[in-house]
Amino acid sequence: MKKLFAVLGDPIGHSMSPVMHNDLFKEYEIDAHYHPFQVKSEDLPSAIKGLKAIGISGFNVTVPHKSSIIPLLDEVDELAHSIGAVNTVVNVNGRFIGYNTDGLGFLTGLTPYTETVTGKNILVIGAGGAARAIYFTLGKNKPEKIDIANRSVNKAEELINSCPYETVSKALSLEEASKVIGEYDIVIQTTMVGMAPNITEQPLSLELLSPNALVCDIIYNPLETKFLQEAGKKGAATQNGIDMFVYQGALAFEKWTGIFPDVNRMRENVLQQLGGQ
Ligand code: ATR
Repeated sequence: MKKLFAVLGDPIGHSMSPVMHNDLFKEYEIDAHYHPFQVKSEDLPSAIKGLKAIGISGFNVTVPHKSSIIPLLDEVDELAHSIGAVNTVVNVNGRFIGYNTDGLGFLTGLTPYTETVTGKNILVIGAGGAARAIYFTLGKNKPEKIDIANRSVNKAEELINSCPYETVSKALSLEEASKVIGEYDIVIQTTMVGMAPNITEQPLSLELLSPNALVCDIIYNPLETKFLQEAGKKGAATQNGIDMFVYQGALAFEKWTGIFPDVNRMRENVLQQLGGQ
C-alpha cells in the first residue's frame, strides 16, 4: 500500500519539502507520497489524532507547530526535547516519535566547509528557535567557545542558561559582537534580517571579520544575503541556508526510509524551486 508522509504548518503554501521528498521517493522507487497540510494551531491536536488513525508513516512539522506538538507525541528524543522543538515525526508501530533534524542538518551541512566544530570559536547571531537548535547541537560537539549575539541580550542569556550541554559561552549585544567579530572561526546568522524583501539589511557589521572565518547565513532567499556579500568581500568563506534546509530534509528522509539520500540532487531540486518562484 502507498505510504503517506506530510508536512503540517500554517502557512504551508510555500514549503519546498513536498516537491523535494516526492522527487526522492521517485528516485529511490519508494511507493509513497508527501503532502502539505495547512493546520491551524487550534486544530493541531485533532490533526495528530487523525494522522494516527489513518496510519501515516511520518511527517514534518513547521512554523507554528514545532513546540506545541511535543505534548501530543508518544516520545521525543533527547536533543529535540532539550531544544524544545520537533520538526520530524516517525510512526513506529503506531507510536509517534519526535526528532529535531534542524540543528543536525546545519551541522552535517558544515562538513564540506570545516572538518569539525570541536575546538572552534563560534558566534551565533540570534536567539530564536533556529538559533536554539543550532546552539544546542553545536554546543554538544565541544567548540572552544560558542557565544550568542542578539538584539535583546537577555534572550541570548536565557538561551545560554537553558543549554543542557557544558559550553563556554557569553551573551553579547550586536554592537559588542561586531567589535570582537575577528575572534571567531565560524559566524552563524540565524535571524530573518536580510531575508527578502528586506535584502539591504544585515544584523551587524563584519568590518573586523577575519579572512579565515567561515560565515553562514541560514537564509536562502536571497541565496546571497548582504551579510554573506560583506563576508565574501572580507575574503571569508561563505555558506547560505540551502544546505541546512536540504540536510534537515535528508536526515528526516533517512529516519523514515533508512536511506540517506543524494543531497546534491536535493540541492538542485530546491534551487530549481527557488528559481521558479
Ligand atoms: P526563528 O524561529 O526563525 O529563529 P524567532 O524565534 O522569531 O525566529 O527569532 C527571531 C530572531 O531574530 C531573534 O533572535 C530576534 O531578536 P530578538 O530576540 O531581539 O527579538 C531576531 N530579530 C528579528 N528581527 C530583528 C531585527 N530587525 N534586528 C535584529 N534582530 C532581529
